[in-house]
Amino acid sequence: MQILRESIALRPLIGDWKGAGERVALVPTMGSLHQGHLDLVTAARRVADRVVATIFVNPLQFNDPADLDRYPRSEEADCDKLRAAGCDAVWLGQVGDLYPDGFATTVSVAGISERWEGAHRPGHFDGVATVVAKLFIAIMPDAAVFGEKDWQQLAVIRRMTTDLGLPIAIHGYPTVRENDGLAMSSRNALLSERERKVAPTLHRVLTATARAVEMGATIETALADAAVKLVDAGFGPVDYLAYVDGDTLEPMDHYRDGGRLIAAAVLGRVRLIDNVRV
Ligand code: PAJ
Repeated sequence: MQILRESIALRPLIGDWKGAGERVALVPTMGSLHQGHLDLVTAARRVADRVVATIFVNPLQFNDPADLDRYPRSEEADCDKLRAAGCDAVWLGQVGDLYPDGFATTVSVAGISERWEGAHRPGHFDGVATVVAKLFIAIMPDAAVFGEKDWQQLAVIRRMTTDLGLPIAIHGYPTVRENDGLAMSSRNALLSERERKVAPTLHRVLTATARAVEMGATIETALADAAVKLVDAGFGPVDYLAYVDGDTLEPMDHYRDGGRLIAAAVLGRVRLIDNVRV
């Protein structure tokens, strides 16, 4: 596996692969890799001949400087894991390379970016869209794989890719979970032992709520019950808990195909997000 630090080194490597008729897939990450990330690499291998991962803790998408500071980092272990997962190359992004002095350009996906995560983390999706657009342009992959764990992020990236006419197939991959249902996340490492026991309640409540809606409960009642259960379990505050259209993230008040239950709730000093299909 090749380890690259400078974006300039990407072009010849990828040019050689493409010249040989090989398809290239990209898996963007912020490192501190767990099985969820590695499964994306495996999924990428299935849709391309070559897989490039990127590790870049993107300052532009952190609205809280403390969150950026304490974001876990483990570059060496990450590279070992990517190598073992069958990655062909990893690009370790550098801030000065991605954001040169005077950097002034933002990619902003209106509407969909402003709801839910976007409302609670102002500027977050502009940061995500901007960095992903830059990664797409630097690598020009044939395909890119993203996790459904970050459902709204996936929807924002699909919208951006369509709107900019980028010839990149976007693949969503189902959320990888711990045995007790907790969605794997680099931030889980920041939970205390007691919080870690409470954390799977988020997925349990979402699953039970999805079932209730499928059985005919009204959306309003089902969501209100779920919020109470989360607070009773020790979550607080619940930033949002909503039933939405899976593509547009618009709230829905009646059961419809393609709906998604999405939630974000704070546990101790960690903010957990999760979502399930309804
Ligand atoms: P990061 O949080 O490191 O996640 C990288 C990719 O892994 C994303 O596509 C995310 O949805 C996926 N992922 C994380 N946990 C997962 C899980 N439990 N199951 C399945 N997939 C999972 O998301 C980002 O980084 C950044 O916003 C990024 C897209 C790299 C832009 O900076």
